[in-house]
Amino acid sequence: MTKRIAFLACPETLPGSPQRRPDAFEHDLQLAALRDGLAGRAEVVDIDWQAPLDELTGFDMALLATAWNYTDYPAQFLARLEALEAAGVQVCNPSEVVRWNSDKGYLEQLAKAGAASIPTLWHDNPGRADILAAFDHFAADRVVVKRRVGAGAVGQFSFTRSEPPAEDWRMGCAAMIQPFLPAIQSEGEYSLIFIDDAFSHALIKTARAGDYRIQSLYGGQETAITPSAEDIARGEGVMAMLPFAEAPLYARIDMVRLPSGELALIEAELIEPYLYPAQDAGFGQRLAEAVLRRLG
Ligand SMILES: Nc1ncnc2c1ncn2[C@@H]1O[C@H](COP(=O)(O)OP(=O)(O)O)[C@@H](O)[C@H]1O
Ligand SMILES: [Mg+2]
Repeated sequence: MTKRIAFLACPETLPGSPQRRPDAFEHDLQLAALRDGLAGRAEVVDIDWQAPLDELTGFDMALLATAWNYTDYPAQFLARLEALEAAGVQVCNPSEVVRWNSDKGYLEQLAKAGAASIPTLWHDNPGRADILAAFDHFAADRVVVKRRVGAGAVGQFSFTRSEPPAEDWRMGCAAMIQPFLPAIQSEGEYSLIFIDDAFSHALIKTARAGDYRIQSLYGGQETAITPSAEDIARGEGVMAMLPFAEAPLYARIDMVRLPSGELALIEAELIEPYLYPAQDAGFGQRLAEAVLRRLG
């Protein structure tokens, strides 16, 4: 019998939805790449992850795909994935991976394990004094402050010594402070994509002039690249440190170059990353074969 795969999505990404976001073309490209790669060997249906449970339990596998709104419903999302797993649906990546990956505290764990990392200060709710202290701590004139739990550069700040936060500024949530790495603007951010632990392809994402956020929503652009063997090895090093018995089906390792010249981890995207299918002709096939291997 033909195996069935649920490509989990949300109202912000589903075709025809009134709430569809302008960058939801990523949904179409990623889905098309998988369908082309499968070439009819399994059926893929895009469906809201919040659909009634019994509409989802009939699938053999659920891909987290474009469930972009999960950050608004973190507890429900995890509960849903666990319910699917309990019903015998193979969830990729599994709930265990999602739980680990949804709080950027994992970066501290990977740094301790030896991954090339960006120096980071962790705070429950930083204020102006913490930012001023961070300038001195890092001997940096500019820092970024990011939410521990978050995505898409939402709720993120960048401060300079000449433009520090206001007296009464507070982040309002658990956060991480890092020195601002100029390579983000001069070179860009690397994304290394891995399928079943094997390097698939890479691209570099650059910000619009004047911005430092590389996300397409802010005018960022991406270009396919062939990274140096050394840069690929940095990404592989991160993959080797992931604390899971089984390799994740997919992973996007986002990296930036440190002043020392080596790539350091910005984040390991293991939940619902865009995998840049259009930047590599072999990607859809590679993902499809990995999916079919898992479906047995
Ligand atoms: N230390 C840093 N120096 C310079 N830019 C950064 C730094 N950290 C993050 N950024 C910029 O902010 C963006 C979002 O940060 P990131 O850590 O990837 O969080 P998110 O989960 O929101 O994607 C990055 O893509 C990059 O453009
Ligand atoms: Mg990011």
